[in-house]
Amino acid sequence: MAAGLDFGYGSMNEKTTLDKRIAVLSPERRRLLEKLKALKQPSLLTENAPAIEARGSASLRLDAPVSLSDTKRLSREFYNNVSRQLDSTPVGEHAMFLNYGYASTGAQEYSPIELPERYLNRNSVKLILELIGTVDLNGYEVLDVGCGRGGTSYVINRYFRTKRFVGLDLAPEAIRYCRKTHRYPGYSFQEGDAEQLPFDDCTFDVVTNVESSHNYPDVSAFYLGVHRVLRPGGWFLYTDNVPATAWEAGTSYLRSLGMTLVHERNITANVLRSCDETASQHRQAFQAPNDQNAVDTFLAVPGSPIYDDMKKGKSEYRILHWRKNK
Ligand SMILES: C[S@@+](CC[C@H](N)C(=O)[O-])C[C@H]1O[C@@H](n2cnc3c(N)ncnc32)[C@H](O)[C@@H]1O
Repeated sequence: MAAGLDFGYGSMNEKTTLDKRIAVLSPERRRLLEKLKALKQPSLLTENAPAIEARGSASLRLDAPVSLSDTKRLSREFYNNVSRQLDSTPVGEHAMFLNYGYASTGAQEYSPIELPERYLNRNSVKLILELIGTVDLNGYEVLDVGCGRGGTSYVINRYFRTKRFVGLDLAPEAIRYCRKTHRYPGYSFQEGDAEQLPFDDCTFDVVTNVESSHNYPDVSAFYLGVHRVLRPGGWFLYTDNVPATAWEAGTSYLRSLGMTLVHERNITANVLRSCDETASQHRQAFQAPNDQNAVDTFLAVPGSPIYDDMKKGKSEYRILHWRKNK
């Protein structure tokens, strides 16, 4: 597989029509566009989307070409905004997860760590624990790509004694929150792009990636970087929701790089159940000044396009454990 692999929506041809362009957008990009349309802060359009604003309209125009660098900039600003909005709410201090979470369905589970029934951010913590499964992170050097507000660092610090942990994210506001909140020995956070991992070869024993890769215009660049920064025998613990048809290409590409798939499972049903359970409480954190439909879409509230795509099997949320060949 050549470089340039994406989830089927990364390489938008500037000549395609509006409908075609929207049809090939990932759930995340559609969500992003809806959110951008709905956000009532003009600054988002004027300051953060100059390529769009430059076309002379105060409103967001979807028929304008959006380059991959625009997409990345919009993604950064979108998650900056999410962080700012969370920080402005009474629960912001504790809002360290930006994932949909995992709820039990009776299907086999892998983490040996039992959580109490009542536990802050239980479903999001459970997602991270199920991602880690039986892999023992004690003594390891761990890189979390797309760390967001550091939920994964919180869980790993709570249950493991790693040698080092680095969280990397495109959004400076998320990194600012992480540095303030997750002050654990050996932990650090830095701004950076998953497609250009700013680390030497063979630096980490584990790379984690939680519900982030669907944002990357060129996910093959990320996979290549993961393989490069991992030590031989190192683990790539990976979970995300992507179009069901896209998983196979990603799997072949990782294999071609010299990675072995050790474990894989479809957790869409668990994620949907988590969305059902947590929708209303998440909605409260994200209310005014946003449009409620956009907020529902962002949070995968039942009935939103993201939720429906998972329900219909158009997208699949999976956990994968890869190991770099020795
Ligand atoms: C849905 S959030 C998940 C955050 C976190 N992993 C969690 O589980 O709470 C996706 C994150 O990916 C980050 N992200 C998007 N594109 C990125 C890129 N190219 N490089 C690094 N991070 C990126 C976003 O800024 C955001 O924080």
